Amino acid sequence: MKILVTGGTGYIGSHTVVELQNKGFEVIIVDNLSNSSIEVLDSIAKISGRKPLFEKFDLTDAVRTSEFFRLHNDIGAIIHFAAFKAVGESVEFPLMYYRNNLTSLINILQGMIDNGIGNIVFSSSCTVYGQPEVLPASENSPILKAESPYGNTKQICEEIINDTCVNASIRSILLRYFNPIGAHDSGLIGELPTGIPGNLVPYLTQTAIGKRDFLRVWGNDYVTPDGTAIRDYIHVVDLAKAHVIAVERMVNRAGKKKVEVFNLGTGNGFSVLEVIQSFERSTGVKLNYKIMERRAGDIVKVWADTTWANQELGWKAEKTLDEMTRSAWMWELALAQKK
Ligand code: NAD
Ligand code: WQD
Repeated sequence: MKILVTGGTGYIGSHTVVELQNKGFEVIIVDNLSNSSIEVLDSIAKISGRKPLFEKFDLTDAVRTSEFFRLHNDIGAIIHFAAFKAVGESVEFPLMYYRNNLTSLINILQGMIDNGIGNIVFSSSCTVYGQPEVLPASENSPILKAESPYGNTKQICEEIINDTCVNASIRSILLRYFNPIGAHDSGLIGELPTGIPGNLVPYLTQTAIGKRDFLRVWGNDYVTPDGTAIRDYIHVVDLAKAHVIAVERMVNRAGKKKVEVFNLGTGNGFSVLEVIQSFERSTGVKLNYKIMERRAGDIVKVWADTTWANQELGWKAEKTLDEMTRSAWMWELALAQKK
């Protein structure tokens, strides 16, 4: 079966393409390479032995997207990763985020309706929960007002999918990721942050390798055991595997509802200091860091209730935090060798 992976040369997309290929799916990627590189296709081929089909275009282009679907109406399911994802940038350029993230989804859903394509997995985010009052956050936790235009695009996209699936012959699985980190064991694919990383782990590994002077730990006066903020970090390969299961669930008509929602996390929260300790333990590399003021917009703590995903998808994240921080370091070293 042919699976369309939008954003398939990106960080989570590339790992998912490999897992799909490992399970025998044929993959076609659409990506405009706005935040990824064409070389990723060769890296995927080195890992899986097969180069995915690839078309470069912008999914906000309605005419081009419609033409694509007309020519590829044999697609069995879509995994829609393509989006802009930098929270800070979305505050600065909200329209860029609304245009890209909403228009792409609308064009894809239209293409599905016009060509009888029935299954879509959507990349959502734990950001839709904001700071939950009750932890862990379950799929039924309240959706709070978004903290950023980026977060709002995820909420609106979920609503667009829900509304569209009411009457169209489309099924969807919305996957709410917690904090994906780490890279493929091969050292061939991983996250390629452009500019100064905003996320913890790429900033941390860039500090360890000497690209940054020190890691700024944003606040140690939170009401948490060590005062630093807590998140549910999940290895990107564990995350990728859940997408394959979601696709299989839809194509086998095993879902219980037209639109299903699953949290993808480990169910464990770790503080920023615990991540640093894990990194030092798993790599033997000492990290230079300084405690700073809190970062605006940060929540204190969040981790996932993964019961529903464990039970219904038969999926469970397997990698430990030490495996995650070590694999992120291996990827940073691999990147340094490429230059
Ligand atoms: P990424 O930037 O590495 O990958 C996204 C890919 O989509 C890139 O290759 C980019 O070139 C492509 N793209 C963007 N807009 C496009 C367009 N209009 N047309 C065609 N291609 C386009 O990001 P990622 O970390 O792999 O994230 C994938 C998805 O998961 C995104 O939807 C993101 O919002 C979501 N998500 C990510 C995280 C995270 O922390 N990485 C957490 C929760 C949810
Ligand atoms: C993690 C922790 C920081 C950088 C963001 C998005 C969210 C989702 C995942 C897409 C926090 C601390 C960070 C640094 C630090 N993405 N930190 N120094 O903020 O949980 O979530 O990415 O959907 O929507 O908001 O991730 O990696 O930025 O931060 O101390 O240099 O690390 O304060 O506690 P976050 P993050």
